[in-house]
Amino acid sequence: MKTQVVIVGSGPSGLLLGQLLHNQGIDTLILEKHAREHVLSRIRAGVLEQVTVDLLREANVAGRMDREGDVHEGFDIVFAGRRERLDLKRLTNGKTVMVYGQTELTLDLMEAREAAGAKTIYQARNVHLNDIDSDAPSVSFEAGGKTVTVHCDYIAGCDGYHGVCRQSIPDGVLQSFERVYPFGWLGVLSRTPPVSPELIYANHERGFALCSMRSQSLSRYYLQVSLDDNIDDWSDQCFWDELRTRLPAQVATSLVTGPSIEKSIAPLRSFVVEPMQFGRLFLLGDAAHIVPPTGAKGLNLAASDVSTLYRILLAVFREGRTELLEQYSPICLSRIWKAERFSWWMTSMLHRFPGDDFGSRIQMAELDYLLDSEAGKITIAENYVGLPFEPLE
Ligand code: APR
Ligand code: PHB
Repeated sequence: MKTQVVIVGSGPSGLLLGQLLHNQGIDTLILEKHAREHVLSRIRAGVLEQVTVDLLREANVAGRMDREGDVHEGFDIVFAGRRERLDLKRLTNGKTVMVYGQTELTLDLMEAREAAGAKTIYQARNVHLNDIDSDAPSVSFEAGGKTVTVHCDYIAGCDGYHGVCRQSIPDGVLQSFERVYPFGWLGVLSRTPPVSPELIYANHERGFALCSMRSQSLSRYYLQVSLDDNIDDWSDQCFWDELRTRLPAQVATSLVTGPSIEKSIAPLRSFVVEPMQFGRLFLLGDAAHIVPPTGAKGLNLAASDVSTLYRILLAVFREGRTELLEQYSPICLSRIWKAERFSWWMTSMLHRFPGDDFGSRIQMAELDYLLDSEAGKITIAENYVGLPFEPLE
């Protein structure tokens, strides 16, 4: 078998890259370890930056998002009895974000790929990358009881943090940078109307809380919890009681509760590898970097990697500009590190760190200062709506 680009992983990174390339007549094959239904059962975040929305429109996969997604012009920060709205639109000269679940987006991308007749192999086992530092790389895998080898020009590693692509790069090539946080997020999805039309991020003495949503009838809430907490210890009742405690009284009284339809605990982590390329292999999205979810940047960073690799590959296949390939990693990393900084900063400012009373007072002073200052509010808002993509020379 032969194709131009093998894409490993059918999460949002792999699917979006596949769609953009396919629309330009570039042949791709996606290899996904799990079944389609499994990929679609994962509940992930749901805030899209304007540049991500624009890229989805460019890929012709934005129809349902434009109909059903919700444009948000602001969000609230709550702390020490104060509730402050960040008017994103005013503070950023008109920019907004789109609330649209990653699960829905993944479904739209899968359907667009199927409609276009582009090939995805689900349940591809033992994916193995060969000769990635040569001019003739290939990828082998097992499917339907057979071992298949696909020869290609380039490989896109879109297989998430636990994938095989990053691990295929020889020891000593990559440098990794990591920060782990001493808490996790307990998330609940419920078929209830959101407590407020916009997102609320709360720093409470008992810990962080976030009120988010997927639609007018589907809410997503999170609580900061200890890493030792067990999901079985959090009944729905406990969750709603704790959420109410961490919200301002006026918000808590209007909270509509109901049975959880998904409940999980996720640890928070920052992680980056450098460089994001080795030979003909390129790493994108969670395969190369993780952010804690407080800044809502995970999916958006994946999309900006996709945009960069797509533009480079187009110039390579159309104009033979192979010298651009080595710009992939530096272009991506300059945006990634700014989003890593913002996500780390929002996480540090909004969560309670066990035993750090001095740090808690500093947080209150920092939030008070930032939200009293136009410059402070602009700093949060312009990072939240997303920094511009770096142009390709
Ligand atoms: N072979 C083939 N596929 C694999 C392998 C493998 N060895 N390992 C993992 N995969 C698949 C996973 O099953 C998954 O479907 O790769 C896909 C990776 O998808 P994601 O984890 O969603 O990563 P990505 O597409 O980069 O999306 C990033 O997802 O986790 C969020 O915050 C993150 O929003 C961001 C987005
Ligand atoms: C979500 O809706 O899941 C969500 C929203 C904003 C965040 C993180 C998660 O910062």
